Amino acid sequence: MTSLKGRDYIETQDLALNELSLLLDTTAELKEKFHRGEPTLLLPHQTAYLLFFDKSTRTRNAFEAGMTQLGGHAHFLDVALTQISHGETAADTGRILGAMGHGICVRHDLVLGEGNRYMREMAEATDVPIINMQCDVDHPTQTLADIFTMRERFGKDVSGLKIAVTWAYAPSYAKPLSVPQGLITLMTRFGMHVTLAHPPGYDLIGRTLDDAKNNARATGGSFEIVDDMDAAFAGADIVYPKSWGVHELMLERQLATTQAAIDENQRACLAMNDKHKGWICDERRMALAKKEAVYMHCLPADRGYEVTDAVIDGPQSIVFQEAENRLHTAKAIMACTMRERPFV
Ligand code: CP
Repeated sequence: MTSLKGRDYIETQDLALNELSLLLDTTAELKEKFHRGEPTLLLPHQTAYLLFFDKSTRTRNAFEAGMTQLGGHAHFLDVALTQISHGETAADTGRILGAMGHGICVRHDLVLGEGNRYMREMAEATDVPIINMQCDVDHPTQTLADIFTMRERFGKDVSGLKIAVTWAYAPSYAKPLSVPQGLITLMTRFGMHVTLAHPPGYDLIGRTLDDAKNNARATGGSFEIVDDMDAAFAGADIVYPKSWGVHELMLERQLATTQAAIDENQRACLAMNDKHKGWICDERRMALAKKEAVYMHCLPADRGYEVTDAVIDGPQSIVFQEAENRLHTAKAIMACTMRERPFV
């Protein structure tokens, strides 16, 4: 009998397919009950800590509202207001919060080389589940919602579908690499044909590319990398265009210790983005994909830059269904890691 009780959820790659299926089945059950107005008090009196090194709308509220709906309580912790900002370690913080509650959820996504390591150090120090609310490597609560949304649209067997995971221009900020990395690794687990497209310099981290290739080989899917957004869109069933930062500059961010250096790093990333303003998801590009293709984005999207209003608000967009599913998947992840199988 598959169980995830006590397990960490740091990368989807850490879980077997039957464990991912348990999360998806539990999500479906929780979503149906939510829409029927049935209570799902699966975690009464339990506490989850939500530790944020970065901003959030969807993830924070999915976990906070989700924990309330499960009968427990989620504490929001802004890192700047904790002793972490004075240097308290991941291990000590994990040990202490783990002794007081039942799960620790962490977002630490902006600096390549830091967030995933932080979560794994914390996981070593405590027995309660560590749930990754986005790191530098993966955004596994987002991609679980994404695959769930794709299965709602195309049916449970998504193998053979073609997804275009492409870079898109954004002037707002250097976005983490973890969403495209999470998509290429998870969608190849499900036998999909994944095309990754980006301009030169926007490479993803090597180990996620290797995972995607190996997953595709094992499942009969495929994985290719191109530098042309049109080519990626051609014949796609799903398009997922979004921005991310320049690989080398995101790595250099580790060395930036002053606000001035962080600001300079950010300016350099955005100046590089400005060279690729043509990478937008518009109606012309949507017409290159299949007629029934869907547009997805983790949100927030830079409207008018990553995507036109006509596409994101148009009939092919499923972004708001996708965003709602963040709630149901967050609940499933907490319920399955913080208690025995919720629905047998
Ligand atoms: N998609 C996503 O993670 O949204 P937030 O940054 O608002 O949490």
